[in-house]
Amino acid sequence: MSRQFQFKLVLLGESAVGKSSLVLRFVKDQFDDYRESTIGAAFLTQTVQLDDATTIRFEIWDTAGQERYKSLAPMYYRNANCAVVVYDITQSASLEKARSWIRELQRQADPSIIIALCGNKTDLSSRRQVTQEEAQKYAEEENLMWCEASAKTGEGVQDVFMAIAKKLPLS
Ligand code: GTP
Ligand code: MG
Repeated sequence: MSRQFQFKLVLLGESAVGKSSLVLRFVKDQFDDYRESTIGAAFLTQTVQLDDATTIRFEIWDTAGQERYKSLAPMYYRNANCAVVVYDITQSASLEKARSWIRELQRQADPSIIIALCGNKTDLSSRRQVTQEEAQKYAEEENLMWCEASAKTGEGVQDVFMAIAKKLPLS
């Protein structure tokens, strides 16, 4: 017998950190060097195989990071089962923005929401501004999952979604 579970996942984070690129890598295994900034939000789905008998279907809301869309975010994180809050490891300010999204989720989202903090663009390690230690320490303090990835090379991208899939309550 095989079972399929559906979960709503929202991506949040400053503009240009690579939210859409992570989703494009996860869903289509593609990458664009010149991606246009998201308008409003985009919806995509992808299924992962958790084990022989279990699949997880993610309904993904890829939100727009530009400030003018900020007021739309609650529509997307409300009822979300999980959130991936993305920062760019080459931009310290993007981690500050991620922290503010996490505070907002902790106050306003469903208390059972699973939150992953994800540092993107590890292929640009020579320009790194956010150390792994700093981000990991913060994630531990706040009880968040933490990971790094590169949408460009694909490194770590499947792992983010797989790690979340493993944490979701199946019943
Ligand atoms: P908004 O839609 O405005 O919120 O931005 P976003 O977070 O969706 O960023 P997007 O995916 O559009 O990526 C922004 C830019 O960063 C694009 O030029 C991407 O090609 C680039 N980019 C995304 N991920 C990576 C990565 O892992 N490595 C490198 N080198 N560039 C990346
Ligand atoms: Mg986008």
